[in-house]
Amino acid sequence: MWKGIIDEYREFMPFSKDVQAVTLQEGNTPLVYANNLSERTGLHIWLKFEGANPTGSFKDRGMTAAITKANADGANVVICASTGNTSAAAAAYAARCGMKAVVVIPSGKIAMGKLVQAVMYGAQIVSIEGNFDAALQIVRDIADHYPITLVNSVNPYRIEGQKTASFEICDALQAAPDILALPVGNAGNITAYWKGFKEYYEHGKSDRLPRMFGFEAEGSAAIVRGEPIPNPETLATAIRIGNPASWQGAVQARDESGGVIDSVTDDQILEAYRLIGREGIFCEPASAASVAGVLKMYEQGKIEQGSRIVCVLTGNGLKDPDTAMRFATDGLITKLPADRDAVVEAIYGGSVS
Ligand code: F0G
Repeated sequence: MWKGIIDEYREFMPFSKDVQAVTLQEGNTPLVYANNLSERTGLHIWLKFEGANPTGSFKDRGMTAAITKANADGANVVICASTGNTSAAAAAYAARCGMKAVVVIPSGKIAMGKLVQAVMYGAQIVSIEGNFDAALQIVRDIADHYPITLVNSVNPYRIEGQKTASFEICDALQAAPDILALPVGNAGNITAYWKGFKEYYEHGKSDRLPRMFGFEAEGSAAIVRGEPIPNPETLATAIRIGNPASWQGAVQARDESGGVIDSVTDDQILEAYRLIGREGIFCEPASAASVAGVLKMYEQGKIEQGSRIVCVLTGNGLKDPDTAMRFATDGLITKLPADRDAVVEAIYGGSVS
């Protein structure tokens, strides 16, 4: 049985063997070959579906490590700022070990499914009139002054957990890909992936290093613009972040790997979001930034034919059904009376008698 990322990769984790993992058996997520996207581009594209984690996002990898550490240290309370996924994961893992979780979220700007998760896992939810960046500033300050453990990705254990996705990709492909593409918000994940690829390479577990391609949403693209954005906007609320805490980590991953940090528009995100659905995978809008970015680079002629690319789909689409219903239903829903012939007519358009 898969034991969760700490026990599966303990030799790469900062825990001795007597530290008991707080786990929901996260990790071991599907790496799915994207038939349509690959055929359309002449690239080899795989989708690392992190939405298959226990709380539906990659945050579970980081949170098992951060909460395991907090638990081993005897912490009673953890706190985080979140656009929704971190709060869901913090709440779930805190519940696993009887800790209190306090989550601070931007009012009205997190997907309903994520809020509902924090409710069901029993977190204390503080909804502030401010954005993620303001929330992060508040929780950092509180953690500095009270006996409360911060579990945002500025906590280095989060990065240690999240780097394991790189190991899984190398194990599955028996090699590192040419390009690893992912959405960038607070920039913890790109920092973690790069650390993972380097460690596996240094241990002789993979043959090379990938180029790291990170994509911000255009209205929140602080790294691309080179300055913090006071009022970030995007429909991809998970990455609606104007001053990424791991900015330097993202720049380092880009520069050391010969990669790119670029931005994608909300329209490009929505287009990719629909295309990913047609591969049989439902991710959340922010996740689609990885595929949107690869398609953008491909269309600009910046990706070599035949390249092997892994796009990380960071979260599950079921967390945010509102966005799907608002932007992705065109031509798919027909409302009819309960009449058999009317249904046949809708299917065959009258061509069958
Ligand atoms: N994709 C999803 C679905 C996310 O929830 C996040 C971040 C990212 C991508 C970006 O990852 O911040 O490491 O660059 N969500 C955080 C949260 C901010 O609070 O759930 P990053």
